[in-house]
Amino acid sequence: MKVCVYGSREDEMGYYENREREFNFQLTFTEKMLTPDTVELAKGCTAIVIVTACRIDANMAALLKEAGVKYIASRAAGTDHMDLDAIAANGLKAASVPFYSPSAIAEHTMLLTLALLRNLKREMMHVQRSCFTLDNIRGRELGNMTVGVIGTGRIGERTIQLLSGFGCRILAYDIYEKESVKKLACYAPLDELYAQSDILILHCPLTKENYHMINYESLVQLKDGVLIVNTARGGLIDHRALLDALNGGKVAGFAFDVYENESAFMRKDLEGAEVDDPIFNALIAKAKVLFTSHMSFYTDTAIENMIQTTLENLREYSLTGSCKNELTR
Ligand code: NAI
Repeated sequence: MKVCVYGSREDEMGYYENREREFNFQLTFTEKMLTPDTVELAKGCTAIVIVTACRIDANMAALLKEAGVKYIASRAAGTDHMDLDAIAANGLKAASVPFYSPSAIAEHTMLLTLALLRNLKREMMHVQRSCFTLDNIRGRELGNMTVGVIGTGRIGERTIQLLSGFGCRILAYDIYEKESVKKLACYAPLDELYAQSDILILHCPLTKENYHMINYESLVQLKDGVLIVNTARGGLIDHRALLDALNGGKVAGFAFDVYENESAFMRKDLEGAEVDDPIFNALIAKAKVLFTSHMSFYTDTAIENMIQTTLENLREYSLTGSCKNELTR
């Protein structure tokens, strides 16, 4: 089977090369993302591999069909970059990697949470300009906090396990409750979690129902001085409302690995130029705001697992025409 791998990175080649013979695929690689300009690279391929920066809307689904593509293997866990109805309507099938290393994202979430609590960005900025005082640096301890975790799936549960080692009180909210989570956290209705949490951590997928769940109305319900950490999806937050809440002091700190309009700049080296997004720029300029470029997932273990499952998905498609991780059923 001929497969075009979009968004491939130099440091991942070894993983693909080690497995190419085992899977008996003809792989071609491009660093480029899938766009109307690059879709021609998929011509003659039965399948493509994509990353989350490759968006498939109705137009792209039609272009892929025209190029002769049958299967889309997304390397990610999140699926909001694909219009699954449009993919199915064009007779294509798509699969994802439902999990590859929940610990990768959970550990990064802990890193961001602790960095906010200890004012790490401000301290780094101070040290950079040879300022070694303790001014505006005093931190807070996680063990004294109430942490609210929204979404207790694979990643949320792992974060809760890590949090529990710090001795903090953990509240959780999910549309489905899990018995294993109840051993470490208390499920609470969303309004109670909002009212009681010193730190709010988002680990739920982005859906039509929870788009901009953190908005002007919900921000009012949060505790004064709350910290917010989002390693899930940018669309969960109305960033204009959050910027206002940071400016007004309602929110004391914000760490994010994902941003609603990130596809405009993510994975690009803009060489010191500003991103064309005044809200994003105002956010990342703040000492109390930390941004990492959608790299929570990016560990050696995660990449290896992600590529392995992607190739297994494609092998299943090539042998049976369907796949256990299929999204377009
Ligand atoms: P999962 O499918 O194991 O768990 C998601 C949980 O969220 C489920 O328990 C589900 O019931 C719950 N949920 C769904 N809608 C909800 C809502 N409206 N309110 C509260 N809970 C809701 O997914 P997993 O592996 O834990 O991943 C969670 C999300 O993390 C992904 O959907 C993705 O958006 C994001 N992610 C981010 C990465 C990064 O690099 N920053 C990497 C991987 C995932």
